[in-house]
Amino acid sequence: EGNDGVQLGKLLADTGLTTLDSGFVNTASCSSAITYIDGDAGILRYRGYPIEQLAEKSSFLEVSHLLIHGELPSAGELDEFTDRIRRHTLLHEDLKRFFDGFPRDAHPMPVLSSAVSALSTFYQDSLDPFDDDQVELSTVRLLAKLPTIAAYAYKKSVGQPFLYPDNSLSLTENFLRMTFGFPAEPYEADPELVKTLDMLLILHADHEQNCSTSTVRMVGSSNANLFASVSAGINALFGPLHGGANQSVLEMLEGIRRDGGDVAAFVERVKNKEPGVKLMGFGHRVYKSYDPRAAIVAQAARDVLAKLGGDDELLDIALALEQAALTDDYFVERRLYPNVDFYTGLIYRAMGFPTRMFTVLFAMGRLPGWIAHWREMISDPQTKIGRPRQIYTGATERSYVDLAQR
Ligand code: ACO
Repeated sequence: EGNDGVQLGKLLADTGLTTLDSGFVNTASCSSAITYIDGDAGILRYRGYPIEQLAEKSSFLEVSHLLIHGELPSAGELDEFTDRIRRHTLLHEDLKRFFDGFPRDAHPMPVLSSAVSALSTFYQDSLDPFDDDQVELSTVRLLAKLPTIAAYAYKKSVGQPFLYPDNSLSLTENFLRMTFGFPAEPYEADPELVKTLDMLLILHADHEQNCSTSTVRMVGSSNANLFASVSAGINALFGPLHGGANQSVLEMLEGIRRDGGDVAAFVERVKNKEPGVKLMGFGHRVYKSYDPRAAIVAQAARDVLAKLGGDDELLDIALALEQAALTDDYFVERRLYPNVDFYTGLIYRAMGFPTRMFTVLFAMGRLPGWIAHWREMISDPQTKIGRPRQIYTGATERSYVDLAQR
């Protein structure tokens, strides 16, 4: 229980004992009422609602409201929430100029985190973490502007002109138009693809104390503002062991194809623990059975590729890899199953996104989770500044030696 845990922590601190738990494998850093995971049973719920139901029936903005405000919105509340977000999708013209400063081949993730960090310079009227109205305003600004920033990061990377948001469109349609459309040319997104992308954003929307969310909470625990904290979360997500995995999966599948498509040979290299060779998109700190999100994404990948005629060869390699791993003792004993990112890249690729945009799409999805956790953390009276202890392993005391004598 949360309070008992806090009391126990205080008692332990009084004894002078320190526990070492690298990677926080068994240490809770907070109590939270947002997301429930049962890693053995493969269960994921946002605020009590099973992920399968939300993925099938809900929309990304509904889920954002659910995560951030604790309840699914009524029709009126959803209209109001959506309307508010629509009114904040534009980027300040000066912020747009930031994109010119990055090299053309810059990865869009650091471009994204830099632009989000810069929001604290443009919107100084919503930085007070203890003013509810300001927090709500920065929440709306982030939800509204991140798709615009993400689309501009893409446009920058392909050298195409930016499009202003069209606020008659839904958040997801608007993002697709700003990404793939051209000024003064009509752009109509396929409604099925809009629905699939919206569903993928829902699947990524929260996952309790993962690396990026813990980062957002840790940075925010110093009372840093929401923009600064989320920007740090984006940088944490960039790593290939976290959000960057969706890019790495596609690169791995392409590598296997380049080497002649020999899946069994690749699996042997993984089992032999060749440096840098892992089955990307497999394994999870918490799920020790099938990631429930992966089951939904695997089906969506089949549907989207059937519709768009995507890269069947890569899907076949992915299916063969999954089959090989699920029947191999090495992976079974370690309880390694596909995670959410094993199949997402294939869908994004079929939709036309370049590999480097995959992690940006993950960031767009995870945003409401980051915001919900930051807000929960800031309003929790139990919150203290994050400050882990360490076990010192360095030299014992020694005397300074003058430069000439060294
Ligand atoms: N391929 C091959 N072996 C693996 C993999 C993998 N993907 N993942 C774990 N293992 C092995 C480890 O080598 C280790 O074996 P050992 O006991 O013989 O040493 C054992 O399984 C346990 O693995 P850990 O590294 O201790 O597990 P941890 O919980 O620390 O790591 C992680 C979880 C980072 C997700 C890991 O499984 C991994 O690197 N996966 C690939 C990257 C990936 O897909 N990341 C996305 C995660 S989900 C997300 O962010 C959306």
